[in-house]
Amino acid sequence: MAHDRIAVIDFGGQYAHLIATKVRRRGVLAEIRQPEDPVEAFHGYKGIIISGSPSLASRGEDSDYDKAIYDLETPILGFCFGHQEIARHYGGRVVHGGREWGHADLHIQGEHKLFRGLDPIERVWMSHFDSVVEVGPDFRELAWTLTPEGAPDHRYAAIGSDTLKRYGFQFHPEVDDTVHGDEMIANFVFEICGCSPSWSMDSLADELKDSIRDQVGERSVFLLASGGVDSTVAAVVIGEALGPDRLHLLHVDNGLMRKDESRKVLDLFVDMNLDGNLHFVDASQDFLDALAGVVEPEAKRRIIGDTFVRVFQDVARELGIEDHLLGQGTIYPDTIETGGTKRADTIKTHHNRVPVIEEMIARGTVVEPLADLYKVEVRELGERLGIPKDALWRHPFPGPGLGVRLLCNDGLPDREGLDEIEESVASTAQRFGLSGLTLPIRSVGVKADLRAYEHPVLLSGAVTWSTLLDAASTLTTEIPGINRCIWNLTDVVPSVARPLAASVTRERLDLLREADHIVMAALVEHDLYDDVWQCPTVLVPLAFGDDDGEMVVVRPIRSLRAMTASVVELPSALLDDLREQILALPGVSSLALDITSKPPGTIEWE
Ligand code: XMP
Repeated sequence: MAHDRIAVIDFGGQYAHLIATKVRRRGVLAEIRQPEDPVEAFHGYKGIIISGSPSLASRGEDSDYDKAIYDLETPILGFCFGHQEIARHYGGRVVHGGREWGHADLHIQGEHKLFRGLDPIERVWMSHFDSVVEVGPDFRELAWTLTPEGAPDHRYAAIGSDTLKRYGFQFHPEVDDTVHGDEMIANFVFEICGCSPSWSMDSLADELKDSIRDQVGERSVFLLASGGVDSTVAAVVIGEALGPDRLHLLHVDNGLMRKDESRKVLDLFVDMNLDGNLHFVDASQDFLDALAGVVEPEAKRRIIGDTFVRVFQDVARELGIEDHLLGQGTIYPDTIETGGTKRADTIKTHHNRVPVIEEMIARGTVVEPLADLYKVEVRELGERLGIPKDALWRHPFPGPGLGVRLLCNDGLPDREGLDEIEESVASTAQRFGLSGLTLPIRSVGVKADLRAYEHPVLLSGAVTWSTLLDAASTLTTEIPGINRCIWNLTDVVPSVARPLAASVTRERLDLLREADHIVMAALVEHDLYDDVWQCPTVLVPLAFGDDDGEMVVVRPIRSLRAMTASVVELPSALLDDLREQILALPGVSSLALDITSKPPGTIEWE
């Protein structure tokens, strides 16, 4: 059956693939195309969507794609960079400025098909440096957002020309945080492009099994199974595609797991009858040795990924199954965040995307049935495959485990760029009734599709939750070099932070394991485990007084696809429990709550 199709031009934005997912979810086939594709490649599509990009439209970056697409009759809608490119092409002006991250209120002007069925003010998600400040003669403003201090006088949040059938949104309707983004995309696909829905998710499991059989042929698969949602679903799909005899599972205890995790995972596999060819190896010492003395986050990530491959190959050799293909539960965010599409920036190297594995992928020896899916689709697929709810709804846990939650330091303050911003951080925090201390360490974030390795700010003071979130959003938006804010949960208001020399050691991991265990148990106890999507606990080697104890940071977030995240407010009784139990741990002297959305902070600190 021929389906109506939409083309998504991938300029390397973090969410380009998500646009295609959202269109497919509405029953219309969406295909990713590259900017280099000639205009002929776009014939036959009923609509074109231009994605965001790490490039700057204001500087004319990445603008040598085939402009003949604009001569087609086909409707075109652009998001972020795509919106700016459309504005520029039709005589508008784009400037570098007016940046926004996170939520904004979109004020819709009058009636338009794109916003049919929506409220006059809609909550949308922004992540941009550039802004459209003038539109060409055929265009009108369809919606605006408030202009922050210091921004150009006017910025267009949504523009359109019904005669040309060209439209642009500065915000990202494809991310889940744009509350009615799905409806906006559906309005474009159905009302403007005139598509009819005919594609369905139901066929996904069969399609995946067919493509596993095609790739694997007569061979077998040896799958790295962490016990997390993704590798467990991958194990079931591969097992159903090839039969249980042609699937071996390897669970590695890398020493970076949660408390008692490996034991629980092995029990789970037994319960799920996945223990036919189940192998277990305690490689914690290998990982510790490889990580000894390493401080830099990307170096840690690469070492963890490489060690996984080494351990896997050793075990395969011992078992005499070196000819098996490597199976992994990789999902799409792992690829995009590792800079895995042509233009995407490397936000962080996911453990299943280190160079050794990329080489194996190029040789066709890696099987990753879920590589095009997001967590929410993986869970949906898992439900269709009959995987128990408990296994599917566990909080996501990153492959490098506690390794990316245990910050390391050479003991010297990292003051890069700090002198210029400390004062404005303190005075901006004061505007919200808070004291703000810029910390002499850095953590990973993502701003306008680019990696941001920047400083966190510690905010102290008693204000309302919404004031705290406003302060965090203002500080990360207005002050360059800040990508994260944390809220002090102790009574002491520190004026200096002292970095402690710290590396990956069993003792520090045990301490973090204990703190993490307390946080997880508290979420269950307060009946919040299911409401919170993920809650990393991070050990940060910073001391604020004479005591050499470290800081623990708790990061409760809500998300669907991990590409964006918002902070969850925890009840004060739960915070009291955390204070009481975590501050009592020997080796811990301070406690804070991460109050940063993604972007600009990533979910994990490294
Ligand atoms: P970030 O920190 O980039 O994380 O916002 C997005 C989601 O991915 C998880 N994560 C990983 N998962 N291997 C994984 O399997 C990795 O290397 C990795 N790094 C981050 C993270 O926990 C969050 O759910």
